[in-house]
Amino acid sequence: MPDITIQIENHDGSVTKLEAPTDMGLSLMEFLKGNEYDIMATCGGMALCATCHVEVTNGFDSLPEITDDEYAMLDTLPNITPTSRLSCQLKLSEQMNDIKVKIMGDGLS
Ligand code: FES
Repeated sequence: MPDITIQIENHDGSVTKLEAPTDMGLSLMEFLKGNEYDIMATCGGMALCATCHVEVTNGFDSLPEITDDEYAMLDTLPNITPTSRLSCQLKLSEQMNDIKVKIMGDGLS
C-alpha cells in the first residue's frame, strides 16, 4: 500500500509534512508520538485521556465517523473544535492522504 502525506501543525504554529505508512496498523497518535510530537497518550489509545486531541484543519470529511466514546471524551475538553478528533482513534489509511491536523493536547496530562 502506498504511503500517505499528512501535514502537522505544532503548538508553535510550525507545519511539517510527513509521509506515513498505511500498512503497519498504526494510529495517527502512534505515528505522531513516533515522530517526537509532544503527546502523552496516557491511556495508551483507549479514548480515555484526550491528550492525543487534534484539530483536523483539512480533510475532516474523509475520516471515519466519530464514535460515541470518542465524542464523549472530546466533549469534556475546554478547547474542543467542530473538527476535533482523538488521534488514537484514527487508524492510518489511504483516505487520510493529505489531511492536515493541529496538535491540541497540552502534553502535560
Ligand atoms: S491516547 Fe488517550 S485518548 Fe487517545
